[in-house]
Amino acid sequence: MLNFLKEFMKNPQFIGAVAPSSKYLAEKMIENIDFSKCECIIEYGAGTGIFTEKLIARKREDTLLLVFENNKGFYQQLMKDYRHKRNVKIINDSAENTLKYFKKYSATRVDYIVSGLPFATLPLDISERILENTKEILTSQGEFIAFQYTLIKINFLKSYFNEIKWKKVMWNIPPAYVLNCKVQEEI
Ligand SMILES: C[S@@+](CC[C@H](N)C(=O)[O-])C[C@H]1O[C@@H](n2cnc3c(N)ncnc32)[C@H](O)[C@@H]1O
Repeated sequence: MLNFLKEFMKNPQFIGAVAPSSKYLAEKMIENIDFSKCECIIEYGAGTGIFTEKLIARKREDTLLLVFENNKGFYQQLMKDYRHKRNVKIINDSAENTLKYFKKYSATRVDYIVSGLPFATLPLDISERILENTKEILTSQGEFIAFQYTLIKINFLKSYFNEIKWKKVMWNIPPAYVLNCKVQEEI
């Protein structure tokens, strides 16, 4: 918790939160994932691993999980906690570079991308690069799941996804929206 606040003070635009998300928000982030069918899941902006923990607990052992965290301190903590887990790769790089690692780890499709990135404060060009790559690597049935504290970037996200459903999660400080975004609309 203190660690998180310290990193926020150093780099508020990129950390985007003063504390990690609640376990309840983490549950809501992953509740729609069909873990039985996943070949590969990607996580953006894992922080101290509140979503990572749940993804590892629920994923099949043979599902590849690529975890991106570009903050050095958080990356080191994630490595300590999860480097020994099967088919989990912790990557100290920006979520802009997913394509490189997708190829490196011989993934052929990505079923879900779970994002903790603060799009409301990230520079626009970085957000654009991340979402362009996201669209490129997600399967047509795939889902991009993100949380945000406001809906201020909803139109920006709509320019990348055909269907966005959201729910408000009150059990988080502050309350947050979980956005389930699909490239292909459900019929
Ligand atoms: C709001 S915090 C969320 C952390 C964690 N997922 C949670 O919910 O508690 C955002 C995280 O995204 C990371 N981040 C910001 N920009 C990033 C980027 N371009 N690539 C990867 N991680 C990034 C930050 O370092 C930070 O850990």
